[in-house]
Amino acid sequence: MDSGRDPERAPAECTGEAAAPVPVVAGPPPVVLVRGAGGSLPPGCAVDTSGHLLAGGCDVPALAAQYGTPLYIFNEDVLRANCRAYRHAFAAYEPGGVVAYAGKACLTVAIAAVLADEGLYLDVVSAGELQTALAAAFPATRMVFHGNNKGEREIALALQSGIGRIVIDNFHELELVDRAARAHGMRQPVLLRVAPGIEAHTHDYIRTGSQDSKFGFDLQTGQALEAARRCAAAPGLDWVGLHAHIGSQILETAPLLALAELLLDLAVAIRGATDLRLQELNLGGGAGIRYREEQTLRPEDVVSAIITAVRDGCRARDLPLPRLAVEPGRSIIGQAGIAVYTVGSQKRVPGLLPWIAVDGGMGDNIRPALYQAEYTVAVANRMRDPAEETVHVVGRYCESGDFLARATRLPRLRPGDLLAFFSAGAYQYPMSSNYNRVPRPCLLLVSGGSADVMVERETYADLLARDRLPPRLGGRPPA
Ligand code: LLP
Repeated sequence: MDSGRDPERAPAECTGEAAAPVPVVAGPPPVVLVRGAGGSLPPGCAVDTSGHLLAGGCDVPALAAQYGTPLYIFNEDVLRANCRAYRHAFAAYEPGGVVAYAGKACLTVAIAAVLADEGLYLDVVSAGELQTALAAAFPATRMVFHGNNKGEREIALALQSGIGRIVIDNFHELELVDRAARAHGMRQPVLLRVAPGIEAHTHDYIRTGSQDSKFGFDLQTGQALEAARRCAAAPGLDWVGLHAHIGSQILETAPLLALAELLLDLAVAIRGATDLRLQELNLGGGAGIRYREEQTLRPEDVVSAIITAVRDGCRARDLPLPRLAVEPGRSIIGQAGIAVYTVGSQKRVPGLLPWIAVDGGMGDNIRPALYQAEYTVAVANRMRDPAEETVHVVGRYCESGDFLARATRLPRLRPGDLLAFFSAGAYQYPMSSNYNRVPRPCLLLVSGGSADVMVERETYADLLARDRLPPRLGGRPPA
């Protein structure tokens, strides 16, 4: 496999200087993993005696020199540990728990292979994610197909692949899946996605006014119950349960518990109106991670709170316990990823914060521009240097909004310094673009001191591969 190296990139400049604002691991070769809890480094990272950042036991400046930047480094051990934390949290729940990784957070063939190995399920939202997982021999029976506008061909592919569950989002799709399943001579196990009207992210989360979402069957107006009735009458559909997802980067369990209550109430209504009985309850994803100083939820806290709420709620309603499912994306992959950039130009104007430009930006990480997302940033080749000034870190794209970090404290930076953005594993590479015709970055998978390319850096040939010059502009007619 090609190295993914960018031939245009100059080698990183590395200096080791005094003062230690972060934990230091002594002794070559330092392969110690520092857990993130309480420390300023994320899980799987450490700093060696020369002030270099290590990820999965690999020297980050050395990886940057070998593979070029922007570089996304994913730590396989952190990924596996997060998978296990979720799975173990369900161990005591008798009907069983399913952990379906939300592929939209970041899915590559290698990531899918690790997830398969860890016994996870997978939430896919497109034929592309489905194909990626199939390419890793991820069992289709452990996949859950989501989306608010699944295409007929995507549905057919899912059925042909033997997909485990389809989460039906709307009445149109209910008919499409029923028809397709009958055409395949089968009954497809399905869940209904409910729009419960719960707002995560606010203290008003149990307010049921927020129905204004494109996803799912509306609960308040009875559409969810009506959808269950239609499932009961659809020969191609085998209704097994309910699903809802109320938001992302949730930092408290209360909205999830309120959600469980609402869905159990709906299960009671469905029991009263049809022959259907709730077998599975999927409460979506959403657990937040630490980007800066957030107090986050641990997988075991999320799962145990849900289990308690569902046990109590079922007892109170005389419902048998359903199989439970969660769909974490960010909390499995987010902290496993680091984005590394090289510092280039700087603009300094008296009275204003300096703009430090790096070789990536909104093309590989749209989150700061789109959501005002904030990150912890470190100088990967000078981890022990103290912060000296407050700067904006900006990208190389032609937009004023192309910020990666606003007003962040860093040592005084020089061209060639390497900036590491932590918690970069989720929703960055999958949301990347070729804006300004910049190739997408290289993705590495590191573990135990060794690194492998899992996605090669895009080349200019890749960028041009699908361009066609019409014959009237001098191109050759298609063969
Ligand atoms: N299940 C469903 C149905 C979802 O829509 C999502 C995320 C998840 C699970 C996983 O949620 P997580 O555990 O990762 O929070 N691009 C945004 C996040 C969009 C989330 C979309 N749905 C960001 O960068 O923050």
